[in-house]
Amino acid sequence: MSETRVLFVCLGNICRSPLAEAAFRKVSKAAGRAIREIDSAGTGNWHDGEMPDPRAIEVGARHGAPIHDLRARQVKAEDFENFTHIIALDTSNLRDLKAIAPSSALDRISLLMDHVPGREGTDVADPYFSDAKAFETCWADVLAGAKELLKAIGN
Ligand code: 4NP
Repeated sequence: MSETRVLFVCLGNICRSPLAEAAFRKVSKAAGRAIREIDSAGTGNWHDGEMPDPRAIEVGARHGAPIHDLRARQVKAEDFENFTHIIALDTSNLRDLKAIAPSSALDRISLLMDHVPGREGTDVADPYFSDAKAFETCWADVLAGAKELLKAIGN
C-alpha cells in the first residue's frame, strides 16, 4: 500500500470532483495500484451532505464508476496536512485552494489537466448549468486526467 492520498476538488463536490474521484479509483484499480486514500471535496459548502447530482450519478454508472454513495463536503484545514496530492478541477478552484492553503501545502496542489499533455492550464468545464452532453464531456476529461495523474504519481 502506497502512502499516496489524493483529494480532488471542485466547487460544489456534486459533479466534477466525485466523477474524478471515481475515475481515479477505476484506473488505479485496473492498474493494480493500491492508493491509500482517494477522496473529493468542494471549495464551497452549498451542497454539504448531499448526494452527487443525478446527472453525474448517471454518467458515472454508465462508465463503471459508481458515485451514488458519495456525500458532498467542503475542503477543510486538515485536508492540507492529510493529502499528498490535492487536485483542482478548474483554474478558479486552483486559485481558491492556493488562497486558503498553508504555504507548506502549496507544492502538493495542482490542476488536473496540467497532468494531461497538450491540455495544460485548461479547466474541466463545470457541467452543472449545462446538459447531459456536458456531463459526458466531463467524464471524458476526468478519465483522461485520472490516467495521466496515475502515471505522474508513479509507484
Ligand atoms: P461541481 O459543479 O463544482 O462540479 O460540483 C457545481 C455544483 C453546484 C454549483 C456549481 C457547480 N452550484 O452553484 O450550486
